Amino acid sequence: MVDVRPSDAATPVVSAFYDRFPFPGDPLQDGPPPGYNWRWCHRSVLAAVHGCCPAGAEQPRILDAGCGTGVSTDYLCHLNPGADVVAVDISDGALSVARERLQRSGAADQVRSLRQERRSLLDLGEEQPFDYINSVGVLHHLDQPEAGLHSLAGALAPQGLLHLFLYADAGRWEIHRTQRALTLLEVGTEADGLRLGRQLFETLPESNRLRRHHEQRWAVDCAPDANFADMYLHPQETSYNLERLLAFAASAGLQFAGFSNPEVWDPARLLTGELLERAQALPPQQQWALVEQLDPDISHFEFFLSKAPLERRVWSDAQLEAATGIRQPCLWGEPDPILGRNMEPLQLTADAKALLTAVVDTPMVPLGQLAPAALIRELVDRQLILLQG
Ligand SMILES: C[S@@+](CC[C@H](N)C(=O)[O-])C[C@H]1O[C@@H](n2cnc3c(N)ncnc32)[C@H](O)[C@@H]1O
Repeated sequence: MVDVRPSDAATPVVSAFYDRFPFPGDPLQDGPPPGYNWRWCHRSVLAAVHGCCPAGAEQPRILDAGCGTGVSTDYLCHLNPGADVVAVDISDGALSVARERLQRSGAADQVRSLRQERRSLLDLGEEQPFDYINSVGVLHHLDQPEAGLHSLAGALAPQGLLHLFLYADAGRWEIHRTQRALTLLEVGTEADGLRLGRQLFETLPESNRLRRHHEQRWAVDCAPDANFADMYLHPQETSYNLERLLAFAASAGLQFAGFSNPEVWDPARLLTGELLERAQALPPQQQWALVEQLDPDISHFEFFLSKAPLERRVWSDAQLEAATGIRQPCLWGEPDPILGRNMEPLQLTADAKALLTAVVDTPMVPLGQLAPAALIRELVDRQLILLQG
């Protein structure tokens, strides 16, 4: 195996692990990936974070840092036509699956350029700055995640956004115990570990909490061996609580720019009445701390970071009417979408459908010529129309 430089103490063991178990274990297929994920669509992300797509963001430079078997890179190519996409990973095994996946899906034909390289995210010094960096499930596998975050921050353009996914302590309580049990049993991180790990869940009493949790929450995800190994046999991982997460972001001088699953952090998901009113009176960070306490099933954090503090643009009615917009690219169904950006069923009035069709058929027309401000605002708030800044 050729060394990956610069590396950290975890690189050799982690790259060897993913050579054995390339992750994620999603099957390969010909043609574009199924559906969409708005977190991998730069325009959708900009609109979610800034309240509009700033001008000049049409051909972003995008990095997939720790791309694994290329599922995210595939979406990044198909959802960002004309972009320059770079995908790096330290595992040859994962990258060879990623290359085949992207070749079969025709990903390179969608973008201006695509590079897939065996490289550590600690080694990005020669790259031009990126407008968007996606790094999902990666930094928590470094020996020093702060060094990884610092490297990504250095590769980010001044107005760029970083999307991270990191493990959360609370919802991984059962996973951590299982991991420690398997370590005590010395099953290792290879094929024996996989066999004995699966045997463990068959052997434990049906009422056992670890077994029940696995069967109810994770068994489907863990059907591919690579996913089971990633969850229970990993040789190097860490996880966070909210307080440590925010300190982690600040360690690289980055600003927290919002969760990419904000609905999870909304107290209205859990509370009603006076309790909800009290919760909503708290500053955002305390609302999130409250949700963290109330929902011990949260097993990961997914969020955006930026270099500069962000101010979400607030639009007056007159500004909305003068603005132009595009249809959210991550909707299911043409011309009448039936699923929203989170694949949720959409209820749309006839007027809302007509406006969505009009923004596609007559681009660059001020929205005020197509509908009243109240309807424009409703569709913008629902992330169905993305305003052009
Ligand atoms: C859990 S997988 C996530 C893969 C992909 N991001 C996804 O979510 O589908 C973690 C990946 O990060 C890669 N990785 C770990 N440390 C890395 C580093 N220092 N630089 C680049 N990739 C790294 C591993 O090889 C592995 O493929």
